[in-house]
Amino acid sequence: AARKLLLLPGDGIGPEAMAEVDKVLAVLARAGSPFETETALVGGAAYDAHGQAISNDHMALAMDADAVLFGAVGGPKWDSVPYEVRPEAGLLRLRKDMALFANLRPAICYPALADASSLKRELVDGLDILIVRELTGGVYFGSPKEIVDLGEGQKRGVDTQVYETYEIERIARVAFELARTRHGKVTSMEKRNVMKTGVLWNEVVSRVGRDEYRDVRLDHMLADAGGMQLVRSPKQFDVIVTDNLFGDMLSDIAAMLTGSLGMLPSASLGAPDANTGRRRALYEPVHGSAPDIAGRGLANPIAMIASLAMMLRYSFEMTHEAEALERAIAAVLEAGTRTADIMAPGCRQVGTGEMGDAVAAR
Ligand code: NAI
Ligand code: MG
Repeated sequence: AARKLLLLPGDGIGPEAMAEVDKVLAVLARAGSPFETETALVGGAAYDAHGQAISNDHMALAMDADAVLFGAVGGPKWDSVPYEVRPEAGLLRLRKDMALFANLRPAICYPALADASSLKRELVDGLDILIVRELTGGVYFGSPKEIVDLGEGQKRGVDTQVYETYEIERIARVAFELARTRHGKVTSMEKRNVMKTGVLWNEVVSRVGRDEYRDVRLDHMLADAGGMQLVRSPKQFDVIVTDNLFGDMLSDIAAMLTGSLGMLPSASLGAPDANTGRRRALYEPVHGSAPDIAGRGLANPIAMIASLAMMLRYSFEMTHEAEALERAIAAVLEAGTRTADIMAPGCRQVGTGEMGDAVAAR
């Protein structure tokens, strides 16, 4: 059966970056790996067309696709649209309806960019770690979640961190499975010293590791100490698994180890389908719609193209093609071809289209 992709370019630099993905897909098709693609609207573009951040019809296309590639949404044009139909609501609905509970954020430092890191070259050169963040539970979603008026000018803000066994088991399994395809090491991060959810997290991850993944090495770290280690010596990690809140923070910290926002891909995975075994999945760059540079051909398309590489690896088990694509990116950087955001002395500055051409040519 044909591999069906839904492309959701979105707003700002989203469509510019997605255009470069098309070039890589053309190369894959010529090499005998065709994808059937369909393009739909999300975010401000969808709001302009039909008053919703993603329409039911386009949502159905996402549910039906083997994988979704997402650009970025949002921008000043839509700052005052109603809350329920703001551009971000499109991404939130995709995550919710597709039940994407595992967010994968690699932090890879290409040797050619090691000097752009916020750390010393030797600490990050060749860095390759993967943060697996739980995406649908924890304190962002637990109830009660409210602001209570206590009178006399006093209020109480309440957020509730809740995790159940099954939520921890399934994210732990994703992390262990991924570690098996990498360096066989998982570090679980929580705060069991002060949080009950941390105690449960630690207990469940330990049990899953002991019962199902004896071949994978499992370490535990308190999340605050983990943040420190991530900056002190990031290369000690392989796969880090953590909850929604800590994962949000730790993955942003890890991002800064690698240089530009324009380089960072991500994946969000759901549960395997009972019949096909395939997981629903959405792949997107970490960056947003970058309205400050949109429409000028300045955007770095590598985050988007690297998201496509993640798709090849995780949705289609096309490891060989994924690695070839990542090697092409590394080679182009090594050759000194740079967009403005990663420009360095002695390098050649190119625009979005030229960067896409260079990667596709490699
Ligand atoms: P942003 O990621 O769009 O931009 C931050 C800075 O990084 C800007 O200076 C931008 O020019 C630069 N940048 C980002 N991606 C780049 C690339 N590929 N190449 C070169 N430079 C790049 O974040 P910002 O400015 O906070 O948000 C802008 C809009 O994007 C807002 O409407 C925000 O809500 C939305 N947003 C959407 C996300 C998504 O669709 N997943 C994620 C983050 C923000
Ligand atoms: Mg964040």
